[in-house]
Amino acid sequence: MNKKIVVFASGSGSNFQAILNAIDAGKLQAVVTGLVVSNPKAGAIQRASSKRIPVYIHDQKGFKSEVFATEHLIQNVSNFGADLIVLAGYLKKIPSKFIELYRNRILNIHPSLLPKYGGLGFYGIKVHEAVLANGEVESGCTIHLVTDEYDEGPILAQKKVAVYITDSPEDLAARVLQQEHELFPTIIQEYLYKK
Ligand code: GRF
Repeated sequence: MNKKIVVFASGSGSNFQAILNAIDAGKLQAVVTGLVVSNPKAGAIQRASSKRIPVYIHDQKGFKSEVFATEHLIQNVSNFGADLIVLAGYLKKIPSKFIELYRNRILNIHPSLLPKYGGLGFYGIKVHEAVLANGEVESGCTIHLVTDEYDEGPILAQKKVAVYITDSPEDLAARVLQQEHELFPTIIQEYLYKK
């Protein structure tokens, strides 16, 4: 039976789309049972709707306390049913209690060669700006297990790209993203079915 994954995404959801495409192509034996977004305008919502994948919009501010918000998140994800949680550009911190509950079952993708350019403040275009500002000659993406420390969990895979002197942050972001789309579904498949 196909394994169940729940995807968390706050942005355009191009990685989410790559996962859906890999499933359609038979390269990833999984079913996406739900999408969690932190932002009601996330592009990922439309991608989920076109596949009739249920969406939970987790608006932390809408709850009277953090504890309450976490309980709600846990309940909704549990209703979806998940063998694995996949963070594909989710911009909010995952609560410790959630991480504990899904220990070793949460993967994240980060657009740099961790441990470089990871941690608080390194997200989105800021990562690529910093890589260029430091004159790096290579960058890439990293897939890692999620622990309580931002971007510090055990690394499962990395893919490198060249950085060119003429690159804008957007050029570099696009080159890295292309690798993300190939690497993420592959590693999800490997991780789901590892012995
Ligand atoms: C990706 O660069 C990913 O590495 C990071 O957030 C971005 C999400 O992009 N965590 P998208 O929404 O999948 O296009």
